[in-house]
Amino acid sequence: MRKIITYGTFDLLHEGHIRLLKRAKALGDHLTVALSTDEFNEIKHKHAYHSYEKRKYILEAIRYVDKVIPEISWEQKSKDVISEEIDVFVIGDDWKGEFDFLRNYCDVVYLPRTKNISSTKIKKDLGK
Ligand code: CTP
Repeated sequence: MRKIITYGTFDLLHEGHIRLLKRAKALGDHLTVALSTDEFNEIKHKHAYHSYEKRKYILEAIRYVDKVIPEISWEQKSKDVISEEIDVFVIGDDWKGEFDFLRNYCDVVYLPRTKNISSTKIKKDLGK
């Protein structure tokens, strides 16, 4: 079985998230999402509208997602790849090059982002 992992906040779910998850899952058989906790979002200076528990509940209902684990730090990725027996690390190309060090442990794939949509844009537009 080929196992995939991806990381993110996945707040106010939109088509960019779904396209990322769909393409990630298509690279293998099992997709784990490491979902940023509310505490880790604070460290990233990000504030999610939905709590971790709600974002997890929503993600778990998506057909492409097999498992959700918490993302609590920048440093956990190599440990996750080993403990979850991951073959491919996937993330959007806004992170291109940032996680190349994981090539010591697994394949690393940067997928093109979907244009003109983000959680930040939704918040901004609704705030108008
Ligand atoms: N993503 C994507 N296309 C988009 C938005 C996000 O492919 N238009 C991908 C990101 O590259 C990442 C994953 O979805 O791999 C989760 O991204 P996240 O940061 O949670 O979503 P954003 O909508 O970019 O959130 P924000 O605006 O808060 O940065």
